[in-house]
Amino acid sequence: MIDIIPLQPGHGPAIDALLDQRFGPARHNRTAYRLRDGAALLPAFSRVAMDGATLVGSLQCWPIRLKSVAGARLPLILLGPVAVAADREGEGIATRLMRDSLAALDAADSPPVLLIGDAPFYGRFGFSAAATRQWQLPGPVDHNRLLLRGPMTGLPRIAWVEADAGAVKVA
Ligand SMILES: CC(C)(COP(=O)(O)OP(=O)(O)OC[C@H]1O[C@@H](n2cnc3c(N)ncnc32)[C@H](O)[C@@H]1OP(=O)(O)O)[C@@H](O)C(=O)NCCC(=O)NCCS
Repeated sequence: MIDIIPLQPGHGPAIDALLDQRFGPARHNRTAYRLRDGAALLPAFSRVAMDGATLVGSLQCWPIRLKSVAGARLPLILLGPVAVAADREGEGIATRLMRDSLAALDAADSPPVLLIGDAPFYGRFGFSAAATRQWQLPGPVDHNRLLLRGPMTGLPRIAWVEADAGAVKVA
């Protein structure tokens, strides 16, 4: 039986091993990592999937910001990575991780949630590329994969997605 539970600091090594397995060590060069490097994870919205003592899936959330042309800064949540152990795919684990995290985000009336991922998968959870076409990130991104979910009124059409400097963790 799989349990979906809030991510705790002790899960860190198992999550790193899972992410290395699914994305490879070069994952640290991805644009999404530039947004969250050094930022403090949001444990209230991050989840792991446990099969007994074995971690078989994870989903992490991070604080980021959107800067408009006029310089206004709006909070966003960066969701990801989402990963499930290769030998446990197709069991609905990622779907359960997404539903549990999004329910917590919705209950907290969170800012809009951004991710970089496949629209055919994330579209089922309400994510869409419609609002992000002219948003720039601190690295290359395929705008068909830059997906947003949540209240979109008042969001700038042209904007920069940036790390949330105020949320950077001092080690
Ligand atoms: C993508 C991933 C998280 C899916 O995990 P999972 O537990 O197998 O997913 P679920 O069982 O909850 O959902 C499977 C469904 O999603 C679909 N799906 C999975 N990956 C998909 C993708 N990249 N694009 C479109 N649909 C996808 C499956 O076809 C299946 O559809 P169905 O419900 O209609 O049968 C997992 O394959 C994984 O870890 N991949 C490597 C890392 C990755 O690419 N992560 C996502 C980017 S952040």
